[in-house]
Amino acid sequence: MEQFAIRGGRPLCGEVAVSGAKNAALGILAAAVMSDEDVVIHNIPDVADVNILLETIAETGVTVKRQSPHDVLINGSTIRSRIVDNSFIRKMRGGYYLLGALLGRYHQAEVALPGGCVIGSRPIDQHQKGFELLGATTDTVNGFIVAEAEELNGAHIYFDTVSVGATINVMLAAVFAKGRTVMENVAREPHIVDVASCLNSMGARIKGAGTDMIRIDGVDKLHGTEYTVIPDQIEAGTFLTAAAVTRGDVTVKNVIPKHLECITSKLREMGCSVEEFDDAVRLYVNRPLKGARVKTLPYPGFPTDMQPQITVVLSTVKGSSTVTETIFENRFMYVDELKRMGADITVESNTAFVKGIQKLMGTQLSAPDLRAGAALVTAALAADGDSTVDNVHFILRGYENFADKLKSLGGQIETVFSEAEAKKFFMQVVS
Ligand code: EPZ
Repeated sequence: MEQFAIRGGRPLCGEVAVSGAKNAALGILAAAVMSDEDVVIHNIPDVADVNILLETIAETGVTVKRQSPHDVLINGSTIRSRIVDNSFIRKMRGGYYLLGALLGRYHQAEVALPGGCVIGSRPIDQHQKGFELLGATTDTVNGFIVAEAEELNGAHIYFDTVSVGATINVMLAAVFAKGRTVMENVAREPHIVDVASCLNSMGARIKGAGTDMIRIDGVDKLHGTEYTVIPDQIEAGTFLTAAAVTRGDVTVKNVIPKHLECITSKLREMGCSVEEFDDAVRLYVNRPLKGARVKTLPYPGFPTDMQPQITVVLSTVKGSSTVTETIFENRFMYVDELKRMGADITVESNTAFVKGIQKLMGTQLSAPDLRAGAALVTAALAADGDSTVDNVHFILRGYENFADKLKSLGGQIETVFSEAEAKKFFMQVVS
């Protein structure tokens, strides 16, 4: 079983390059399927979720040529099937973007019901509502979402809740709808803007992405393009919190500092020193950190995908903090693991009450999901003593070369496949 073996206690220091944004790439790869010409996407992250989506797209007959680990060519003209299914796609979330893409392009799509991290109930009623207002019927049949339409027509869609997935999915379908679609109360995350920019570079007419209202004028055709995915805001944020919890000094490179402000502003408030450059952000700790109140919100609020990582930092900061999760109801599963490291945290309803302790202690840990898994790794790197983190496959869904990147910052971490290998690592590694 793949595990990370970690000896904690060293500040992380140095520079690390951030990969392309997973959640932008998933939407962009689905968008690429909508053109019969070559769409070349650069800076795709080499992570499990993206690789599964690419394999799944290829299974429909669409041409997928991986030109390098970070560059792919997609051409939708060879598509054979509008049915999207395999055992892997059922376990991830981003596969459902093929629903919007295929419905928009072919007026027909059948996609296996999405899985993904078990962080809440994660309904898709807002996706369905959007598709239906565009003129489609949607149904759940034998574990598939089936969406069909005679034709799609522009509509006024007011979402009941701010949803990243529904915003991207309905935007994809509306690109080919006749006339104008107005989507209100939409998500504003950087990856929404990135998917819209890619679609526009293919000839779509989308305005307003990044605000709470998106207007789309339907087109008949999308042409080929060459497009580069934005850097991953959450990967960058994870390295910044890793620097904070280990009291280190890390510069994340290849980032868009503006996208990180929702994270760095909170870290600054806690006492971290943060310097911004054109495409890099440096975080270092040169004074005692203090507690904070954190509340997750849709962008530009504090991201739910950074909630476990900031809680790990707060667990080591003198004083009391609160962390309130407003997006997903089941995103505190890692707290029990953190408590086994000595953290003093009580969860009541959607709020974690954190009392900072001097030092976490290493132990055997299990990643409950992607972001919580990454957060536990940062906790182990900061802790006194040795830890192992299993269920690493969750982390590899969204972090490229995570262990290697942490090693390059001086982290003492190794991927191991048995207890014996972990023991060997702990014997060899210097304290
Ligand atoms: C996306 O999930 C991301 N996944 C998640 O990243 C991220 O945590 C989340 O957005 C919030 O930022 C991908 O992009 C693949 P939502 P998504 O629809 O689209 C409710 C990660 O770690 N809702 O914005 O599934 C929902 O229950 C992952 O990279 C409805 O009620 O999230 C939640 O409370 C985990 N009905 C809220 O909206 C719907 O139809 C926001 O969910 C859709 C959502």
